[in-house]
Amino acid sequence: MARKSSLPSPTGTAALIARRCPLRPVLGIILGSGFGPVAEAVTPEQEFAYRELPGFPVGSVAGHKGRLRLGRWHGVAVAVLQGRAHFYEGFSLEEVTFGTRVLAGLGVQMLLVTNAAGGIHPKLRPGDFMALSDHLNFMGANPLRGPEVAGLPRFVDLTRAYDPELRRLLKQAAKAAGAKLREGVYLAVSGPSYETPAEIRAFACWGADAVGMSTVPEVIVARQCGLRVAGLSCITNAAAGLGGPKQTVTHHEVLERARAREAVATRLVGEFVRRLHA
Ligand code: HPA
Repeated sequence: MARKSSLPSPTGTAALIARRCPLRPVLGIILGSGFGPVAEAVTPEQEFAYRELPGFPVGSVAGHKGRLRLGRWHGVAVAVLQGRAHFYEGFSLEEVTFGTRVLAGLGVQMLLVTNAAGGIHPKLRPGDFMALSDHLNFMGANPLRGPEVAGLPRFVDLTRAYDPELRRLLKQAAKAAGAKLREGVYLAVSGPSYETPAEIRAFACWGADAVGMSTVPEVIVARQCGLRVAGLSCITNAAAGLGGPKQTVTHHEVLERARAREAVATRLVGEFVRRLHA
């Protein structure tokens, strides 16, 4: 018999939220490192700390707030997860993707997932943004492993995991926000160590343009739930071995660079949201 989940049902948590907030979001936004302040641009109708929400893992990474904000932005009803739990913190992928299932349970049809990433493609410079066109899952795990979810597909097609139309809107939004945006393939590692230069050389051969420690589990689950997905990276550093002979990769550098791009990131995401209303 299939192993049973030890987590509460995400549908139950979504129902609890829906009982306390009449807003019915159409877009979910997951904010990673450097994108946290984007939530402040959303006019709140209701907020929940993750610890108030059954099943929500409470992450511990600096710069991740741990709060769900429901509200309106440019007239669009949004649900924003401000901060995420990571696989490298020891959470299972079921826990990591719990919030994504709750967003789906709230009825969102679209999901924007954001992260900080190391740039592999030579044209991606720290401070640039990247719209995800595809991904490589090198986390060594898949969030759909385990018991089947009733009513959802067991085997999920990822041929067009990232919605081309939403990607087009991201590009328009970047132009309007004055942000440099390229399109590329995101490779997810489990972390928390950064990569070796040899790994980065191998990832480049595989077709990766940027590397990070998140996003892919949420995207896989979102696709299982039938959501249209957009992915956005802020390139915070050159990936290991690509930043010159004296390079080191540090969390401090990642956070500093992400922080420096907060205002632009907020404009970019805002312009994206505005275009959903048109
Ligand atoms: N590697 C992995 N994750 C990251 C990086 C990196 O270089 N930068 C930001 N997140």
